[in-house]
Amino acid sequence: MNQFLNDIFIKEPKIIEGVYIISEDTFDENQNQTNSIFSEKWEEYDKEEISEQKKLFEFQKKWYLDLYGFNSEANFKEFLCSKKFILDAGCGLGYKAKWFSELSPNAHVIGIDFSDAIFYAQKRYSHVENLHFVKGDIADTKINDNCLDFVSCDQVIHHTEDPFKTMKELTRILKSKNQIALYVYAKKALPRELLDEFFREETKKINSEQMWELSKQLTDLGKTLSELNVKIDVPDMPLLNIKGGTYDIQRFIYWNFIKCFWNHELGYNTSVSTNYDWYAPSNAERYSKQEFLDMTNKSGLSISFLHDEEACHSGIFIKENISK
Ligand SMILES: C[S@@+](CC[C@H](N)C(=O)[O-])C[C@H]1O[C@@H](n2cnc3c(N)ncnc32)[C@H](O)[C@@H]1O
Repeated sequence: MNQFLNDIFIKEPKIIEGVYIISEDTFDENQNQTNSIFSEKWEEYDKEEISEQKKLFEFQKKWYLDLYGFNSEANFKEFLCSKKFILDAGCGLGYKAKWFSELSPNAHVIGIDFSDAIFYAQKRYSHVENLHFVKGDIADTKINDNCLDFVSCDQVIHHTEDPFKTMKELTRILKSKNQIALYVYAKKALPRELLDEFFREETKKINSEQMWELSKQLTDLGKTLSELNVKIDVPDMPLLNIKGGTYDIQRFIYWNFIKCFWNHELGYNTSVSTNYDWYAPSNAERYSKQEFLDMTNKSGLSISFLHDEEACHSGIFIKENISK
């Protein structure tokens, strides 16, 4: 085992297929279901055409820079270069952890995920010397206090059983005055929230074949609406939390009524996979901006950069000296 991992983890983890194991399963029913969904999603996506994967990974990296206020990859590289220990909390297939390891070749980068995606990540990137994959719960990392120079938790915390507990755990393992990148789903309009809430319960009762079928139907709906190329003017409807303005019809239905993702550039299969990971996991909490900020504040974090868009709230936060 790498000496530095020995220093970071409270107890030496066992290793299976090159992956460090800190915990393999959970008694929380919803977290368990969420892990299975992501194991399946990433297993499917691992088989996807390389060209489609490449487009998604490039799209995601570009978006990451916007979400966390870096004006270019060079700017992000400069930020990372002083970091020795970097954590990608909830790394999925590990492509962002791999990106961090390239941008910061002198750092050790650890990617943790609770799903079996971690084994695919390890297979993909086993040749990268400064990259290490760990299977476990980011709400209970078994990492010592104040160890890490940068924690990135991108598009993950709302999928954990208790996001506030997870945030406090990620703050605990971060060194004081260092940065954490956090992202949560934003609360949407009332009709969409009601349907999403209802449907996440329903999806627990259906099998995965049906879930993939539904994801294809949602993609077809999104594609059909998008190809109409119709714009509509919508009044403000504050009681329904629907913002007025001129919308493309697909975007209007998407943001306010039902998630029917379609992105021509990313391709059909990536769009299906995106719809799948919206309705399938039981754990998928949404937050208002104030709720997000209250949670970061109570975790002992101060704001360094904030970003809002319809889909999410994100930002870079600094660990204060005194933990709350
Ligand atoms: C939407 S994916 C995002 C993956 C990656 N961060 C990215 O941006 O591509 C959410 C990931 O969080 C992982 N996850 C959910 N709950 C977790 C937990 N408690 N501990 C570790 N990983 C978790 C899932 O297995 C999944 O791979």
